[in-house]
Amino acid sequence: MVRVLSQETIANIEKLFPRYPTRMAVLIPALHLAQNQVGHISEEVELDIAELLDVPPTRVREVATFYTMFHTKTAGKHTVRICRNLSCQLRGAEQIMQKAKEVLGIDFGETTADGRITLEHDECLAACGTGPALWCDDNLVENLTEEKLEKFLVGLK
Ligand code: FES
Repeated sequence: MVRVLSQETIANIEKLFPRYPTRMAVLIPALHLAQNQVGHISEEVELDIAELLDVPPTRVREVATFYTMFHTKTAGKHTVRICRNLSCQLRGAEQIMQKAKEVLGIDFGETTADGRITLEHDECLAACGTGPALWCDDNLVENLTEEKLEKFLVGLK
């Protein structure tokens, strides 16, 4: 009994089965598809995926909570992930993170009141030489300055 996933999402997950050696191997792409539909990985989503892939719900929970790209609670329309790791820190990430909080009026792990933006940390975006960097809507933004960050955040509709 599927709870929240749409027929379209289920069909898209099932289309992946022939491309992977096991159903368990479809777990991460299935989580992406589910998150694209629902917006986050709720308990109901976990149960649906567990049923579809025939894996224990605890395994789905482990993966959904391990990777930072999955939200386990409601997120904003856009999620802005700012790297806080060493290379970016050495290039000014601390000021960038402070500026993001100031511009959005929220802390990391929070969502703006209008539901527009969720602010998160990331641990490395593989842009260590061009940091500080952020990831949002499948886009990497590098060489952040406070001005560049503010323009980017204000431009997110
Ligand atoms: S440390 Fe920031 S992108 Fe790698």
